[in-house]
Amino acid sequence: KKVIFSGVQPSGKLTIGNYLGAIKNWLKYQDEYDCYFCIVDLHAITVPQVAKDLRRNSLEVLALYIASGLNPEKVTLFIQSHVSAHTELAWVLNCMTYMGELNRMTQFKEKSKKNEANLNAGLYTYPVLMASDILLYQTDLVPVGDDQKQHLELARDLARRFNNRYSPTFKVPEPIIAKVGARIMSLQEPNKKMSKSDENENSYILLTDDPDTIRRKVKRAVTDSYNTVKFTDEQPGIKNLITIYSKLSDESIEDIENKYEDKGYADFKKDLAEVIIEGLRPIREKFEDLMKNKDYLEEIYLEGANNAERVARKTLRKVYRKVGFRPRK
Ligand code: TYM
Repeated sequence: KKVIFSGVQPSGKLTIGNYLGAIKNWLKYQDEYDCYFCIVDLHAITVPQVAKDLRRNSLEVLALYIASGLNPEKVTLFIQSHVSAHTELAWVLNCMTYMGELNRMTQFKEKSKKNEANLNAGLYTYPVLMASDILLYQTDLVPVGDDQKQHLELARDLARRFNNRYSPTFKVPEPIIAKVGARIMSLQEPNKKMSKSDENENSYILLTDDPDTIRRKVKRAVTDSYNTVKFTDEQPGIKNLITIYSKLSDESIEDIENKYEDKGYADFKKDLAEVIIEGLRPIREKFEDLMKNKDYLEEIYLEGANNAERVARKTLRKVYRKVGFRPRK
């Protein structure tokens, strides 16, 4: 069975970017693949977090995973800090990663610009921890949004480097990046990625936003003066809204263009808001139910951690042996 691994940081609420670029694409693999979906709390603390919020956000991401349609009977859902092999492998890989490689990471460069007061070493070696997440499970495929491509490239390089330096140990993982929706843009600045850490809350839609909030945010979304619903780079705002429409309604981009051929942005936006509301409604309702049943969620992540740990330990044991650490027994 092929192995799938992916993860989301529990740093605040999830946006439709996280859902359309990542989680929604995971659903189709549940039946035929061996899937691991992680809540990467160790990654989240590379930027300041309030402990109580982080604790809650981890549970919320788990609830959103399930509410989005991941079936805990079929896939392994777990919290990264519960499986210590992730940090242990990260140390070994840190010792094989060149600073030059990390200096080139665009996400680090961006985050360090924004975060000069707290430029910690964790933010710098973040991609190495991510490589560990993936490599521990002998992952074949990693479904992610476009912004994770470069991190995936590093994971592949590290797998090959270790395999060459010692002997074949890691599977070299492949990214899966969707053709449409891998980069959902900000509703306010359509040349920027939609991000939950944006200070302007009109720039993103959360999976948990209520209908009125969604209508308001869509209405305010930046467009252009062409007033034609066309999927082109000249109209980045509208292009992004068509992408969201298409991914949530499963209608093709062409069909959407045709449907709005003789209509203006007001009509299009009005319908788009309803498409988003209806698309997210079942997720939000299920999410609210799940959050009332914390015992159930705890059971899921405990079992997930046990599953994940077994597999991760096996890989880590091999790594430690090959590096030359003396076995304890
Ligand atoms: P994170 O938490 O920033 O985002 C989670 C997933 O959502 C995707 N994504 C988007 N896709 C389309 N449009 C957007 N605007 C958008 N914003 C976010 C991300 O590409 C990602 O797939 N480093 C990862 C978490 C991680 C991970 C891993 C992923 C840690 N270890 C191992 C895969 C495998 C991150 O920060 O994702």
